[in-house]
Amino acid sequence: MKILAIETSCDETAVAILDINGPLENPNIAVLGNTLLSQAVLHAKYGGVYPNLAKREHQKNLPPLLNETLSEAKLKISDVDYIAVTHGPGLEPALWTGITFAEKLGLEWQKPVVPINHMEGHIWSVLYRDKFSISNSSLDLARGEQFPKLELPALALLVSGGHTELVLVKNFGDYKILGQTRDDAVGEAFDKVARMLKLPYPGGPEISKLAEKNRVEETEPKITFPRPMIHSKDLDFSFSGLKTAVLYKIKSENKMDQKFRELIARAFEDAAIDVLVTKTHSALSQLEDEIKSLILAGGVSANTHLTKKLKGLISTKFPKINFYAPNRLLSTDNAIMIGIAAFIKINQRINTFVRKEEGTIRAEGNLTLTS
Ligand code: KG4
Ligand code: ZN
Repeated sequence: MKILAIETSCDETAVAILDINGPLENPNIAVLGNTLLSQAVLHAKYGGVYPNLAKREHQKNLPPLLNETLSEAKLKISDVDYIAVTHGPGLEPALWTGITFAEKLGLEWQKPVVPINHMEGHIWSVLYRDKFSISNSSLDLARGEQFPKLELPALALLVSGGHTELVLVKNFGDYKILGQTRDDAVGEAFDKVARMLKLPYPGGPEISKLAEKNRVEETEPKITFPRPMIHSKDLDFSFSGLKTAVLYKIKSENKMDQKFRELIARAFEDAAIDVLVTKTHSALSQLEDEIKSLILAGGVSANTHLTKKLKGLISTKFPKINFYAPNRLLSTDNAIMIGIAAFIKINQRINTFVRKEEGTIRAEGNLTLTS
């Protein structure tokens, strides 16, 4: 089936057309068209995403991106079977632009519109493998490891700018949230620490680069930060205390040179990743007999220190569990993952979703995997 997917939950406007078929756990995915415009530079001066600016940009970007995607796919809207759109979680003004656009198209072309949970998009982004051609040269997906077909149940560690969650994925569409952050999301903490270090937004990749440089140069970290809630019995997280510890350190030292930035970046990344890996370890120990896979997804899954640590944990302690992370270019927000999640939803005939009339899908800023 051909799915036109639209993503506008945050600061990326993204449109993709997939031709996707086959079994849910191992679908054949051909990306016929894929476009994405990031507003990161525009939001940089706010140190985060400014909702009304995001909305304006999405409104401006969607029509040209749709045309570009269609011409890349050499298709007309009448050729697609479904339109999928993110309806939450995210910034509501931003979500509404995608929903309104999708519903208008759906009405005009008499195509069903499928509302998609952005976090389900992240989870199922791991189903995209390298074996299928991707026609867009701008999305030059690296040839990578060959993954075995995804086996469920799985534990998912979802780490992004808005979420830090450990989720039991019992089956497609059947989730249980085991733990989540009580304050900042881990990606948000990366972005805030980057801002303290006067690094550009989004901060994750910047922090990660500096931290890696320091690890190459110095075996032992010169600074260590606290690991909030690392020994708590539950599977919840907290990153705001770590962020405050970084702030105090920066204030007390008062010397913002490159070397100091690298030390702080490394110490912060070590602490944040240590907490993520330790909590994932606890969850894996609890679920070892129940689950078959570990899924890492969301923007922070692009972090090499995190993936390296999780791969190490799996190979040494849980060799029977398969590890899945998205292709690097599908880690951060994109429309391909929304199309994949739509394919699953359509196949499961979760029928409340098919809307042909306008005004039936609502933006839900706080949508969860269980709501
Ligand atoms: O999933 P995503 O694109 O958007 C949300 O749904 O929030 O995640 C964006 C987040 C940002 O906070 C960004 O700093 C973080 O992912 N991120 C990273 C890296 N690349 C992106 N964090 C750590 N290391 C990275 N390499
Ligand atoms: Zn996201």
